[in-house]
Amino acid sequence: MIPTIDMSVRIGSLMLKNPVITVSGTCGYGDEYAPFMDLNQLGGFTTKSVTLAERRGNAPPRIVETPAGMLNAIGLANVGLERFICEKLPVLAELSVPAIVNVAGHAIEEYVAVCEKLDPLQAVAGLELNVSCPNVSDGLVFGTDPEALSRLVSAVRKVVRQSVLVVKLTPNVTDITQTARSAVEAGADCLSMINTFVGMAVDADRQESVLANVTGGLSGPAIKPLALNLVHQVYREVAEPAKIPIIGMGGITNSRDAVEFMLAGATAVGVGTALFVDPTTTLRIVAGIEDYLGQHCLGAVRELVGRLKPKRIEQAMG
Ligand SMILES: Cc1cc2nc3c(=O)[nH]c(=O)nc-3n(C[C@H](O)[C@H](O)[C@H](O)COP(=O)(O)O)c2cc1C
Repeated sequence: MIPTIDMSVRIGSLMLKNPVITVSGTCGYGDEYAPFMDLNQLGGFTTKSVTLAERRGNAPPRIVETPAGMLNAIGLANVGLERFICEKLPVLAELSVPAIVNVAGHAIEEYVAVCEKLDPLQAVAGLELNVSCPNVSDGLVFGTDPEALSRLVSAVRKVVRQSVLVVKLTPNVTDITQTARSAVEAGADCLSMINTFVGMAVDADRQESVLANVTGGLSGPAIKPLALNLVHQVYREVAEPAKIPIIGMGGITNSRDAVEFMLAGATAVGVGTALFVDPTTTLRIVAGIEDYLGQHCLGAVRELVGRLKPKRIEQAMG
């Protein structure tokens, strides 16, 4: 008999049947993505960022393809909390896999108000804080300032009692272990990383920026080595000692990439930009991880987490 492989992983109090999750902003709220694949095959589904009020987002063009990636400047366009609960959440409630709702805001009170409303709802398994937004009171991006992040996560922690609280780290900092530590000490159950890198594209013919917003967030394979390094750094210095799981993301396009993130310390992996090329990428990744585990005689996917060793240096001959 072929032994079965245990693909389940634990994210705080959540058991995922496999470690592959969609990332925020790349599959809407589920109803837009459902025609392309069976969402119940995923480990979990993450929604587009939800803010207290509906937002139209930035003016177009707000997406541009770049070598090995894409830049987006969507500007948090979303239906807002009330419409999300009435129109979108019922679809997510039908799923058999956990739904993680990504929350954004420009003031601590805004995050608290959204999380307080969503936390008790049965269809919400996790709340992921998108902290790459500027705070209206000081103009600083929450996720780049360890103290502001600590205040935000502590305030939200007080109202999040049922859902798993995930804090999504921005890579646009000098030392990501500082913000990771702040988030964990303030009560995060899980870290997800990374959000996009700030970048820009220039139209040399017109001598103008390609995006109406001028800058955008870079995602896709171009950022994979950077994301891997940051996941590994945070795993070793913060997450592993604190026994906090990481959802790793940034340029994952195939099962090999997913395995690399898990070896570097991620407990689960997120897939985003690759879905624009093939919406069923997640399914191929789940199957590919299973094959990899079989080939390496491993019985459970969680055995991969943090298994990375430094490269062996062969002794010089002679
Ligand atoms: C079009 C697009 C929209 C995004 N919107 C959001 C968002 O609303 N909230 C958020 O936290 N991250 C957002 N992200 C960032 C992704 O969730 C993810 O962190 C990043 O793209 C890296 O993963 P990837 O390379 O697999 O896409 C967005 C990314 C893209 C490409």
